[in-house]
Amino acid sequence: MNDLKKAPDKSSSSPLHTIDLIRKKRDGGALDAHEIGFLVAGAADGSIPLEQLAAWLMAAWLRGLTVEETRALTMAMRDSGEKFSPRGLGKVAVDKHSTGGVGDKTSFLVAPLAAACGLAVPMISGRALGHTGGTLDKVEAVPGYRTTLTLKEFEAVLAQCGASIVSQTPELVPADRVLYALRDRTGTVESPGLICASILSKKLAAGLDALVLDVKTGSGSFLRKREDAEYLAALMVATAEAAGTRTVALMTDMSQPLGRMAGNWIELAECVRLLRGERPDGSEDLRELSLRLAGWMIHLGGKAATPEQGFALAERALADGSALRVFLEMVAAQGGDASVFNDLTGFHKPGATLIVEAWESGYVSEMDATSLGWAVQRLGAGRERSGEPVDPHAGIEFHARRGAHIERGQPLATLYATTQEKLAEPAALLKQAIRFSATPPDAVPLVSRVFSRESAEAYLRDAVR
Ligand code: URA
Repeated sequence: MNDLKKAPDKSSSSPLHTIDLIRKKRDGGALDAHEIGFLVAGAADGSIPLEQLAAWLMAAWLRGLTVEETRALTMAMRDSGEKFSPRGLGKVAVDKHSTGGVGDKTSFLVAPLAAACGLAVPMISGRALGHTGGTLDKVEAVPGYRTTLTLKEFEAVLAQCGASIVSQTPELVPADRVLYALRDRTGTVESPGLICASILSKKLAAGLDALVLDVKTGSGSFLRKREDAEYLAALMVATAEAAGTRTVALMTDMSQPLGRMAGNWIELAECVRLLRGERPDGSEDLRELSLRLAGWMIHLGGKAATPEQGFALAERALADGSALRVFLEMVAAQGGDASVFNDLTGFHKPGATLIVEAWESGYVSEMDATSLGWAVQRLGAGRERSGEPVDPHAGIEFHARRGAHIERGQPLATLYATTQEKLAEPAALLKQAIRFSATPPDAVPLVSRVFSRESAEAYLRDAVR
């Protein structure tokens, strides 16, 4: 019955049939915006059965989506539910999105940095996914912090503080909720077009003027092949720009966890140290990347003539404490007990602790960040099943980073777990994930490439997919 779902076809006035659209994609054709809009509307209102949506997703995964199809899918998904409008705030709205990594906590720095420079940062974030941590799980380590706000409350926090970190509401982009859950169950997640539409539909529904994308490459990223990550970066920039949002993508290093900490509370505490102007050992890459991302946000938001000037403004907001004030005010405005930041180590109460010592002397030459991410998850910081609670205090503190020289017997990492029993498997994963060498490994640049609209469009013209 549902495959008889019909809609007027504006171009030919003949009705559309889901089965015809599946067959067209299966056979290598490209759907037009009207046909894609029909499928997205059917996903959002439940009128197309899941088996037909799954068949179309698999056809799209196998055949790939063209740039035009990706654009049409993104716009249709963006428009599938309610939207947030930051216009009433009277400020330029900017955001940052990362494709996900281990120890990736820049949101807690870039949101207050950009807000301290006069921008609005309406940040709709996600939970832990696979081996990567989730911004919402991390910020919920603060007792009382509410990530589920109504759009009205979201706007009120933004008006008061300039930044707000929340979860997606049920009304925003309902098509993505249906399609994402289906992709998760049908092996159709890793498709550049589908990833692009899923991420951007949610970002664009937040009414952003500008967006900075942090596309990860290396051992801890979802798309391990560099050319796949580059294609995704270019596709997202071109698609968001076509929707009227000024966008750049930075290709950044995820060949090791970012910063010293990977977990929930310990990541937040690391960020607060940086917001206080401290320079903890092992946090320098996190500080540098956050300032680079914030610099671009501030530039695209019109507060600096260049990203370098944006970097300097962001650095000033770190030094003068204004970004820290925004962060603490946001935590309090969302119900969080900001007094926990008065004693960062005192609040950290893991159930069990294990110091792993270096088993060889030499340079830390390789860190398989995906395995380290799974180790963090299994210590209790992530979930085995969706909906489970996470342990705010579980995680790993790294005492040495890639390229550091270490002597056998020196502390390499400290593991924090929920219970003693949860330590053994992560410790074994950590030992498999880290390699030593007699000579220093080649340095990997923190930011290897930046895509603007022009370079993204040129890349897509030349890309062979
Ligand atoms: N994050 C999303 O929101 N969607 C994807 O498809 C992948 C990562």
